[in-house]
Amino acid sequence: MKNFTSFADAGDYKALLAKALEIKANPYGYQQIGKNKTVGLIFFNPSLRTRLSSLKAAYNLGAQAWVLNAGADSWTLETADGAVMNGGTQEHIKDAIAVMSEYCDVLGVRTFPTLKDKAEDYGEVLFNKIVRYATVPVISLESATLHPLQSFADLITVAETKQKERVKVVLTWAPHVRALPQCVPNSFADWFSEVDWVDFVITHPEGYELDPKFTKGARIEYDQRKAFEGADYIYAKNWSSYRDYGQILSTDPAWMVSEAHMALTDNGKFMHCLPVRRNVVVTDAVLDSPNSLIVREAGNRTFSMQTVLHELLK
Ligand code: CP
Repeated sequence: MKNFTSFADAGDYKALLAKALEIKANPYGYQQIGKNKTVGLIFFNPSLRTRLSSLKAAYNLGAQAWVLNAGADSWTLETADGAVMNGGTQEHIKDAIAVMSEYCDVLGVRTFPTLKDKAEDYGEVLFNKIVRYATVPVISLESATLHPLQSFADLITVAETKQKERVKVVLTWAPHVRALPQCVPNSFADWFSEVDWVDFVITHPEGYELDPKFTKGARIEYDQRKAFEGADYIYAKNWSSYRDYGQILSTDPAWMVSEAHMALTDNGKFMHCLPVRRNVVVTDAVLDSPNSLIVREAGNRTFSMQTVLHELLK
């Protein structure tokens, strides 16, 4: 593993999953790997889980870690190539990333999409510049199109809770009051469409089709109730339209996941990456039910990051 930015970087996902489960069972077993190593974390956008689980993962491995909130904690960064910097920006990202690489052995970076410029977002222009300017391995802490540490944590969660050899996993769109990125559902599809013990189904209103590069031929069912029938796992997430880029095409509350929806499943477990807007995306009753895995998923963010750090630092 050179960088960790997508499912493809995971290599043999079964081996990586086995390593994650081993690390979870013995979280302090690899402290030699992180000894005298430093993990740098740069956030261009807010975070609770990614920030704290990444710090915990580094500490579990015996490494040190620092966090920089770009812009707020640093000089205002210029990202345009060849810019004449006579305006408000004070330091070019080319210099900042090269310098920060001097202060760490691996660099995690979060760069959200604009949701305005599809070519810029899906070209991962900012994230790819950072990878280019870094002289250490780079981990995506969520880029414009993908959130691989979340999807890896989701895979760990399903693997350790499944009651059958094969499981039906449904990714469902749910309503929201704001236009959100497609990173989490893109990434979930990128990972779960590849898992050979998963029957993967995506359900959403028409117009919310994700980039086929990530859904890779997965079954799309526009009837949400039909999709839920017999499901073992329901993964809810809102996203804005990829086709009508960044637009909200529906706010239909009938798509909010409720107990009536969950009753269609095979005693299905409920998942969401968090943060979640209660009683907009999903009801309190579902989130607070014994079948809700939301806190366990968040806990597994430590072990997805710790496993990736293990691979990059070993
Ligand atoms: N799920 C997730 O990435 O949470 P944060 O945005 O709080 O890091």
